Formats: sequence, structure tokens, C-alpha cells
Amino acid sequence: MAADRGTWGTRTGFILAAAGSAVGLGNIWGFPTQVGQGGGAAFVLVYLLCVLLICFPILVGELSIGRHAQQSPVGSFALIRPGTRWWLVGALGVMTGAGILSFYSVIAGWTVAYVWFALTGQLAGDQQAIGNFFAEFTANASASISLTLLFLGVTAAVLLGGVRAGIERVTKALMPALVALLLLLAGRAATLPGAAEGLTYYLKPDLSRLLDPSLYSSALGQAFFSLSLGMGCMVTYGSYLGKREGIASAAAWVVLLDTSVALLAGFIIFPSGFSIPGFDPSSSGPGLIFTVLPRLFSTLPGGQLFGAAFFLLLTMAALTSTISLLEVPVSHFVDSCGWNRRRAVLFVTLAVLMLSIPSALATGAVPLFSNLPGINLDFLTLMSTVWNDFALPVGGLLTAIFVGRVWGIDGVLEELLAHHAWFPAPGLWAFLIRWICPLGILAIIVPAVLSIFS
Ligand code: PHE
Repeated sequence: MAADRGTWGTRTGFILAAAGSAVGLGNIWGFPTQVGQGGGAAFVLVYLLCVLLICFPILVGELSIGRHAQQSPVGSFALIRPGTRWWLVGALGVMTGAGILSFYSVIAGWTVAYVWFALTGQLAGDQQAIGNFFAEFTANASASISLTLLFLGVTAAVLLGGVRAGIERVTKALMPALVALLLLLAGRAATLPGAAEGLTYYLKPDLSRLLDPSLYSSALGQAFFSLSLGMGCMVTYGSYLGKREGIASAAAWVVLLDTSVALLAGFIIFPSGFSIPGFDPSSSGPGLIFTVLPRLFSTLPGGQLFGAAFFLLLTMAALTSTISLLEVPVSHFVDSCGWNRRRAVLFVTLAVLMLSIPSALATGAVPLFSNLPGINLDFLTLMSTVWNDFALPVGGLLTAIFVGRVWGIDGVLEELLAHHAWFPAPGLWAFLIRWICPLGILAIIVPAVLSIFS
């Protein structure tokens, strides 16, 4: 099987593909939304610590597992420790992939529609009108479900049709275009009235927020989600990484790109948001970017085109992420159950579509669970909380234990240092993956679980 797996042509090709998976709605939709709900700069601070101290070491671990085993996640864990139950970590990833995809494709569907809305000038009007437009649009069940189906269908077609290489070539052009547009929008946002207030909110931490345990679980979950970690996606990507390519430097590039794009998104949303009178970042929920950005576009000459270009780039960034999300369950059924690719793609896509229906229907902040203590969420937010804040960190916790204590530091270092690859501080990495990652994750998710039930 190893013979026809294929590898990435170059290190840059690998980095772009992995960054294509990482950079997506998580950065541009998820990060500002979470910052808004977490109270601003305090969230940003905790997020950055999570990325550096917990996620980066685990990313190195996931890539090492994949490159060593050259298999999809379930097979990789089984190959490194045969006869044990560690393959279950891969299986958890398969479920998490499907769960994330189920709400991700709903939001991705919104971005497709917003390309059209921006282009045809439907996002005009005062803030009230823009907010109502979003609420009415997302309350339209048939539109939401059709767009979700469209997005999942395109993702499935890419996995089936072998146009993957084409998509990856597009990613090469996409990434710089996206960053250039984000820089331009951040520049414009900084000059709006109210921008200073937005920047203060984004950059100056209110330390009292640090007392809230849910801030830590959201920041950790967001970091895992944004880096496509904790569900085997990066194990899969690592399995395509050539033996001569340095794992640590590739991981560093992915983290740098992903974090820069997320931070940049905040530099656009908060200054623009605070230029709107009465703006409350904590109450916007999943609609934050869809209600704040149209106003920013309206302040630019040719705003309709900027708006359409923005949502188009976001759609493409989301597509390179959904491809990697769907790939994990699909490659599992192909590698471990012997299904052909077509059957696996159709089965997983249909299952995800079913699962996505409640998210597609129950948006617009319908408080489905308002009668339960501690849970006052619409279904889509509930899904993202369950999968991002809990399933991904649990997957990451188990991966850290596997890498640091089961496979063992010596085994991993052999993989990491092969061909004299760059890896500056192996001792520090070993300490982080053995101690800080597992204890940090536990210290964050245990109080969060307890606070739901208290
Ligand atoms: N990282 C992607 C994003 O930020 C989402 C994703 C999560 C992709 C997990 C793959 C695996 O949009």
C-alpha cells in the first residue's frame, strides 16, 4: 500500500497544504467570535499560550506519528503499538472529523451565499438592516440546507474527482491573496472612528476575565480547531511528508501562518465592530463577521467587489479545510475497512449531511437548551462547543500521552532528527509533551466540565 501513497513534492508544497487545512473558518470566523465571547484581549493571551505551550508540541507529535507509520490515524496508532487499544484515539478522530464537518459546512454555506449577496449589493443599509438580513437568511431552512449540501457535495467531488492537485495549486495563490486582502482591510479598519476602542478591547487584557474557567476551555479548543489538531488530520498529513523534510520547521511554519491569519482577522473585526454605535462583541454569536464586515466594505470604494472577493477567498479557505476534514474519515474506511474510495466518500458525506441538519435549522441563536443550567446555546454553537472545546483537546491529550509515554521520547526523536533535521530544543519539547501538554489540557477541561454541571 505504501507504494501508491504518494508524497508531497516539496517542503513548501507540504507546508501550503497543511496550512490550507489549518487556515479556514476557524481563523476568520471562529477566532473573532470566540474573542468576542471570551471578553477580548484576555482570550487572545490565553489562546497564544495554548498555541505555543500545548498545540505546537502536539503538532510536532502528530506529524511524527504520521510520517513514521505512513498510514491514516487508526492504522498509525495500531502500527506503532500493535495489539493495544491506542487505535481508539484514531477512531475518536474519525468521529470528531465528521462532527466538526457537520457544523463547519453550514457556515461555509453561508460564506458562499455572502459572495453573491456582496456582489449584488444586498448587504447595504444600516446596521439594523444588515443584522436582520443575516437573521432572516439563516432562519431560511431550505436555503441553509441546500447550501450545506452544496458545500459538502463540492468537497466530496474534490475527494473523488482527483482535482485535489488542482485545488492545492490554487491554494498557493490563495494564501498570499487572502493575506494581502486581510492586511488591506485591517489598514482600513484602523482608520475608522471607534477603531481605538476596538484595538484596546482586542489588545489590552481585562485580567478579571482570567478567573472564568470557560475562557480557558474555549481558548484551548479554538487553538486545536484552528490548527486542525487533536483528530488525526495532521497525522494524515504527516503520513505524506517525505523522510528528508524537517518536521519541526514545517510545524513552525504552519503555526506561524495560522496564528498570523487569526490575529489579522481580529485586527479587522474589532476596530470595525466598535465603529458601529452600540456594538457588543459578546452578543453577536456565530453572526459576528457576517454583520460587522458588510459595514466595513461599505466604507471602501468598490466595496461590493471587496466584499465579494473577501467571501470568495474565505470560501476557498474553508474548502481546503473541509477537504482535510472529510479525508480523515474517508481514508479510515479505505485503509482499515477495505472500502473503495467512492463508497467511503458517499457514505461519510451522507452521514455528515444528516448530522448537519439540526445545525442548519437551528441557527439564529434559538436557545434550544436554555432550560438546562449552564447551557444556553443554539445548536450550532453547541456542536462547536462539544467538538472543539472537548473532543479535540481530549484527542490531543491522548496523543500527547501516546507520544510522550507510550511510543516514547527516544522513538519519536529518532523520527524527528532523521537526516539531521532542524530541531532546536529536543529536551524542552520532551518536557512539554510529557508534562505541560497533558497536565495543561486536564487542568483546563476538567474545571470546564465541572462548571457545566454545577
Ligand atoms: N483548522 C480548520 C479551520 O481553522 C478547521 C479544521 C479542524 C480542519 C480540524 C481540519 C481538522 O478552519
